[in-house]
Parts: sequence; structure tokens; C-alpha cells
Amino acid sequence: MARITFNDQVYHCVNNESVLDCLTRHGVSIPSSCKSGVCQTCLMRGSKGKIPKDAQLDLKPSLVNQNYFFSCVCKPTQDINIHLPDEDINPKLIATVIQKNKLQPGILQLILQSQSPFNYQAGQFLNLTGANGITRSYSIASLPQANNQIELHIKKIASGNLSTWIFDELEIAQEVLISGPHGDCYYMTEHHRHQPLLLIGTGTGLAPLYGIIQDALYQKHTQAIHLFHGSRATTDLYLVDTLLALKKQHKNFNYTPCLSGSSSFSGATKGRADVIALQQHPKLKGWQVFLCGHPDMVNTMKKKSFLQGAALQAIHTDSFVHNHHVETPIKPN
Ligand SMILES: Cc1cc2nc3c(=O)[nH]c(=O)nc-3n(C[C@H](O)[C@H](O)[C@H](O)COP(=O)(O)OP(=O)(O)OC[C@H]3O[C@@H](n4cnc5c(N)ncnc54)[C@H](O)[C@@H]3O)c2cc1C
Ligand code: FES
Repeated sequence: MARITFNDQVYHCVNNESVLDCLTRHGVSIPSSCKSGVCQTCLMRGSKGKIPKDAQLDLKPSLVNQNYFFSCVCKPTQDINIHLPDEDINPKLIATVIQKNKLQPGILQLILQSQSPFNYQAGQFLNLTGANGITRSYSIASLPQANNQIELHIKKIASGNLSTWIFDELEIAQEVLISGPHGDCYYMTEHHRHQPLLLIGTGTGLAPLYGIIQDALYQKHTQAIHLFHGSRATTDLYLVDTLLALKKQHKNFNYTPCLSGSSSFSGATKGRADVIALQQHPKLKGWQVFLCGHPDMVNTMKKKSFLQGAALQAIHTDSFVHNHHVETPIKPN
């Protein structure tokens, strides 16, 4: 049984539990959100003992070298001494709410103005902390050229701690804290400009894709861009008119809204976005693939895209994991 020393106290890990779960069980509060090793909220630093490699996956090499790790996925096999991260590792910036627009009754477009420079790529995600102290990740739908204005699309989750607060309590001119950006699901002009793009998103998984599409068009992408946006109900399809207008404006941009449930509207294709996308584009060798939204869709499509010819490094994902979902990694044969 591994022992964790934190703030001069010793805690015993039981039943293969993570560092985060062990500390939480003992009443020690550590910031956390996804509990899946994605959002970086639960970052901690080891000073003694071996940190398992699994707890450092997707962490920047400079942070790995300083022995940082994700406490939510760290299951120590030997005694370790750990600390909270240095304050300058993930600084929190103040951002002011300048617009709250309902895109659908349960989907909000939130526009923030960062008070200091916030450098990001469209499609990356940030961590937002509300006045209730809860932190969650949201993907960035705007272009960095937007003068420190940041656009987010937020779905209201029933009984969700932060999303309901953002919907019901957060007001225009109120301040929130943001940190990041994180994630590598974004358009890279020099590598992607001359390759076809396949983008598949469910629900607010459209947010990063919308950012990536705007970026690609802004960078004068030379090949086709195919967006498949899916949801079960019409209430989760949004920005339809904006995307149809964009399609009219740009010959190389194609947009297919898909509905998998019983509701329908003219213009939407019946079925799941991922299934329809692969039916229409079965050969993905030489393509760049972007998958965003529901973790099950992202995980399944990552495997399928790979099997249908996309190189692993050409598959970019933004999985909206929350603590009920566990990612399964894929490995080339
Ligand atoms: C990298 C990343 C990017 C993300 N980007 C976006 C984004 O652009 N837009 C967006 O709306 N969300 C996004 N999310 C999800 C977001 O971070 C929160 O998980 C979501 O807003 C719910 O938070 P909450 O505090 O309201 O709910 P919580 O209090 O965390 O959860 C309440 C309950 O709802 C369940 N739950 C949480 N999320 C979901 C869900 N999506 N579907 C079904 N059940 C759920 C929880 O398991 C729990 O039982 C992203 C997540 C990640 C990891
Ligand atoms: S990375 Fe640990 S809570 Fe998100």
C-alpha cells in the first residue's frame, strides 16, 4: 500500500485509488474537473519517490522534467512526497463577460474579454473558474485575432455545477477566471493547408470545430473542408444558418448537419454524424481528421479513422470527458 506525504501529513492509498481520490477521501480538497488526465486542473508535483509514467501522458516535456503529474490518474506503486503546483505554472487570468447569447434554449454562446493577453489557437480549450469556485474546461470557438475576445459554446447539463451557474447566475460585466490554453486539436497552417479536412462533432463539440474551420478559411486552406455536425435532437444543432452562409461563401467548405433521433428539419441528414461522414469519405489516407465532443464518439471514430487510412498523427481530438468516462488508448498494430 503506497503512502502519500502531502503538507507533512501521511495518507495511505487503498484499492488502487488515485492520489486525487485518496486525498479527497481524507477531506483534502484539490482542484479537479475531468478526472481523466485531460484538463490539467489537478496538476501536482512530486519531490520524492517514482511518479508512474501513466500520470504524465500528454504533459509538456518541461513539466514532466519538473516531476509534475495529473493526480486524478496517478496510482502510485511506491511511497511519494507531493506538493501543489507552483503558482506560475497555470496562472489564472481575469476575464469579463461581455455577451451571453442563447444559440438554442440549452446552448449558450459566451463571449469573454480577457483583461491581459491570452494567446491561444482556435480549437484549444481553457479552464474556466466561476465565482462558485468550480472549474471546468471549455473549447475555444473564436480566432486569436479577436483582440483578447474569447467565444465559448456551453451546453446546460442538468444539475451540472458550473454549466447551470453560467446559465442562471453569471451576468454581463461579471468576472471569471480563465487558465490555459491547453490541447493540441487545432489547425496548423504549414502542415494542414494542402490536405482535405474531415471534421466531426457532436453537440457543443462544434465549438472547437467552428474555430478550426474559421482558422483554415482565414489561412486560405486550399483543399476541401467537410464538417459533419450531429445531435440527437434539433435543439442540440446550432449555428445552422451561420454555417450555411459560410458554405455559400466558400466553395471548398461543405457542411452536413445530422440528426440521429426522431426529430427532423429540412436540410438535415438522418443518422449519426460519424457514420454518415465515413460512408461519404471511406478513404482517409492523406486527410487531417478532427473529432470533438462526446467521448464515446471521439474514441470510436479515432479507431475507425485510423483503420480507414488516416495516420495517427493526422487525427486530432477534443474529447469532452467527464468523470463517468474513461478513455481507451489506441495503438498502431
Ligand atoms: C477538453 C474539454 C473540452 C470541453 N469543451 C466543452 C465545450 O466547448 N462546451 C461544453 O458545453 N462542454 C465542454 N466540456 C465539458 C465541460 O468541461 C463540463 O464537463 C460540462 O460543462 C459539465 O460541467 P458541470 O459542472 O455543469 O457538470 P458536473 O457538475 O461536472 O456534472 C454533473 C453531472 O452531469 C454529468 N455530466 C457532466 N458532463 C456531462 C455531459 N457532457 N453529458 C452528460 N452528462 C454529463 C456528470 O458526470 C455528473 O453526473 C469540455 C470538457 C473537456 C474535458
Ligand atoms: S486532468 Fe485531472 S481532473 Fe482533469
